[in-house]
Amino acid sequence: MFEGSKFTLVKSRNNNNDRIPVLTWEIEHDSRDDVMEIVPLGDLHVGNAACDEDGIRSAVEYIYNNPNAYWIGMGDYGDFINMRDHRFDPIALADWVTTRDLVDLAGAQKRRVLNILEPIANKCLGLVKGNHDKKIHRAWERAIFDEIVVGMKERAWYLGGVAEIDLSLNYWGFVHLKFRRAGAAVRTVVISAHHGFGSSKNITGMEKFLWSHECDVALFGHTHHMTSHRSARTEITKTGKVVYRPQWGVVTGSFLQSDADYAVQAGYMPVPTGTTKITLRPGAVNVNDLVRVSL
Ligand SMILES: [Fe+2]
Repeated sequence: MFEGSKFTLVKSRNNNNDRIPVLTWEIEHDSRDDVMEIVPLGDLHVGNAACDEDGIRSAVEYIYNNPNAYWIGMGDYGDFINMRDHRFDPIALADWVTTRDLVDLAGAQKRRVLNILEPIANKCLGLVKGNHDKKIHRAWERAIFDEIVVGMKERAWYLGGVAEIDLSLNYWGFVHLKFRRAGAAVRTVVISAHHGFGSSKNITGMEKFLWSHECDVALFGHTHHMTSHRSARTEITKTGKVVYRPQWGVVTGSFLQSDADYAVQAGYMPVPTGTTKITLRPGAVNVNDLVRVSL
């Protein structure tokens, strides 16, 4: 358990669904004023020459130093482009990569990712698989994402994390947070975490997703953009009351700077690096205060 946090993570369980995992977290807390922060950390691309490692380390430091801050991994943790991959280009390698690392480039990048994220391993609420993590598995039979999940669980355990823990969200999954407080009804927050797809960065694509998926927040990585969108669904309660459920769509940003070699060649739009932040108030009286997003 993370010292000083107002929230006690009891356990997380994937509800027996490998294709679209639903990680249910049981969380206990004491006060209706408690505030949890969740930082989506994705598209790190560690190993690429244009990776903003300082930026990743300062996001890690922020989460480490804030007892009520947690995080969700959004995929593309490393570049994971091996030497025989047709996308390999020595000019795109970070300057920390040694000749010896080329024997197992993905392994070297994975170790560096885990080292950077190690201090906050026990504050991880789930890990999404990115297209770079998936491509190396499909093309080279290296299950790098599974190695990262196991590595994170081991490190969480060393740090005194939760004993019963599932972290894999596959390419897309749900983080189902169940907040328990003495004398209050259980409050749930549902976060959809998808590595992302082209249209998820546009309002239309994001709204389509929010209309068709029951969730409070839909997170998307992949496009390296950073944006948020707020909408609401009309729902009818069991007692026949009409209520509005606010929903947020969030494109979670990246740590690959815009001068990455492939981005320059493709003429991609420049994008800022960094993270977004989700603020949860499980004791909120007004449903509009339950979730807030800041960029
Ligand atoms: Fe990416």
